[in-house]
Amino acid sequence: MALFNHTPVLLKEVVGRLTPKPGGRYFDGTVGGAGHAEAILEAIGPTGRLLGCDQDGAAVEAANERLARFEGQFEIRQLNFVEVGDWLDQGSFDGALLDLGVSSHQFDVAERGFSLRWDGPLDMRMDQRIERTAGDLVNELPESELGRIFWDYGGEPGARAVAKAIGRERGVGRIDSTLQLAGLVERILPRRGRIHPATRVFQALRVAVNDELRRLEEGLGLMWSLLRSKGRLAVITFHSAEARLVKQFGRRLSRGYRVDGDADLPAFRQPAPVELRWMEKKAIQPTRDEILRNSRARSAQLRVMEKL
Ligand SMILES: C[S@@+](CC[C@H](N)C(=O)[O-])C[C@H]1O[C@@H](n2cnc3c(N)ncnc32)[C@H](O)[C@@H]1O
Repeated sequence: MALFNHTPVLLKEVVGRLTPKPGGRYFDGTVGGAGHAEAILEAIGPTGRLLGCDQDGAAVEAANERLARFEGQFEIRQLNFVEVGDWLDQGSFDGALLDLGVSSHQFDVAERGFSLRWDGPLDMRMDQRIERTAGDLVNELPESELGRIFWDYGGEPGARAVAKAIGRERGVGRIDSTLQLAGLVERILPRRGRIHPATRVFQALRVAVNDELRRLEEGLGLMWSLLRSKGRLAVITFHSAEARLVKQFGRRLSRGYRVDGDADLPAFRQPAPVELRWMEKKAIQPTRDEILRNSRARSAQLRVMEKL
């Protein structure tokens, strides 16, 4: 297979907080190129065990190759992290990691359709079982729905203008390639600095195609259920919509009450045990050095929670 290129972000920070211990049991829900998984396996030694998954078959293959020297100590399956409930025992892990989003490898392979730099089909599916590609959404969704996606999932201020321009263009013919869409957005949104003006639109489409936010919401609860007491969950997010879900999840379990009914009003609150402790109040961000070495790290934020 093609060389799998991905530099793990915040590696020292993740290992320093998950503190993988000899003989421990860890789960990596987004194995990717297995950079984090490898560091965890090194720390847990021959009696430890790492289980993991990735929804992308190419990542699973690359991870198995990279981790070959730890044979017998790990197992990686091609699954979405929301699908691991039947496989894994609840309350049995010392730590779990979600390093969200896309790997550099996925960006680098033009045919996967994630990249603004190389021409490819507008695909963006991390898992080939997903039915609708980014091209299907761009060509078939109503303009209003596209505008909502660009705003909600990309925070794109020009969301409506881009959606309108797509509407005009597809009246002439299908929008099928990454560079065709990138060029169209560039004609609508002015270029500022080095970041391509279509970056947010591409991110938003990717989030929609892979249903990333709903999966994350579900996945956080599932990862939490895998942990034993004192187990830690580390989550690396790359944009504000993801970060918001992680903060809300942590807040719900650390505030000492649950809400009975729809509204979070004092009258609806019932006392509930505090289940979670944040390792740090603020998200951990990469150092200047790391960003200079790996520009993909620039938007990364790490949050770590401990189960009480
Ligand atoms: C940023 S990369 C992970 C890199 C990895 N930590 C490493 O050290 O190489 C994110 C990976 O998560 C996978 N992924 C994203 N969402 C997923 C989900 N819901 N279930 C399973 N895998 C997912 C992607 O396919 C991608 O390979």
